[in-house]
Amino acid sequence: MSFAHGKVILLGEHAVVYGHPAIAGSIERGVSATAQPAERASLSISPWNKEIFADESAAAEPLARAFARLLQTYDTTPLFRVSAEVGIPAGGGLGCSAALGVAVVRALDEARKQTRSTEDVIAASLEWEKVFHGNPSGIDSALAATRGLCLFRRGAPLENVRARKPLYLVIGNSGEPSSTAAMVSEVARQLARDKSRVEKIFDAISALVTNGRMSIEHGDHKDLGKLMDLNHALLNALMLSTSRLEEMCAAARHAGALGAKLTGAGGGGCMIALVEDSEIAVRVEGELRALSCEAFSVQTYAP
Ligand code: MEV
Repeated sequence: MSFAHGKVILLGEHAVVYGHPAIAGSIERGVSATAQPAERASLSISPWNKEIFADESAAAEPLARAFARLLQTYDTTPLFRVSAEVGIPAGGGLGCSAALGVAVVRALDEARKQTRSTEDVIAASLEWEKVFHGNPSGIDSALAATRGLCLFRRGAPLENVRARKPLYLVIGNSGEPSSTAAMVSEVARQLARDKSRVEKIFDAISALVTNGRMSIEHGDHKDLGKLMDLNHALLNALMLSTSRLEEMCAAARHAGALGAKLTGAGGGGCMIALVEDSEIAVRVEGELRALSCEAFSVQTYAP
């Protein structure tokens, strides 16, 4: 059984596509997968009731194209039936498609008794991810394959971020489906139209990431919370928030969160709130559920 993590971006989404750094953590929810020898290469995904056959991959469906592209990274088509179990929302900003890609690569490698480096797994799964997101920075695939809290910069090795104190995060799902490809294109459109405004926003986000790393390493979560609020405001200036996400972030702050922001591509999907301890986490979860949102806590990144 292979496993790949979902992820949350603490600071830096979208700017990361253009080479700026971002800080993200993998979460313990994700995608598991197994592979059994078969006559035809296929992928079945529960709980979506989907079964895809690679030899029918001319189909328009992105999932089928992504699976076909991933199989092309092998010298000969691996003849296995891969079964995947998805434990995170799709289109929610938690890196579901990347986790699925990494879990499928790992399940195939395990079944073929092939060992390769994490970097190679990430590179293969990135081929999958490109089908969905056109121009992915690679942060989702890197975090899906790695456990912990990291600083990611496109084209550079992942750097570990050492948290001085455990970080408590509450994740709230707006229930509004979000398309990473559409949101990345929206930012690209704004960049083409008003380069200097959008580049200033990216530079500001980049500065928040640099400061955020220091706050995490010094255990200064009050500052980190403020940086997350500022990051959210900058993402809002890029028109990536929604009234639902605004309502959720405000409710989390009102319930005692140190900071709250959308996470991932925005335009729907999930938000995260940083809290001081598990007691406040329960309060924030309650406020989010009162808005009819799914909410859960991740208590992680201990030193
Ligand atoms: C998506 O989780 C994060 C984005 O920055 C896109 C990317 O980095 O590929 C919006």
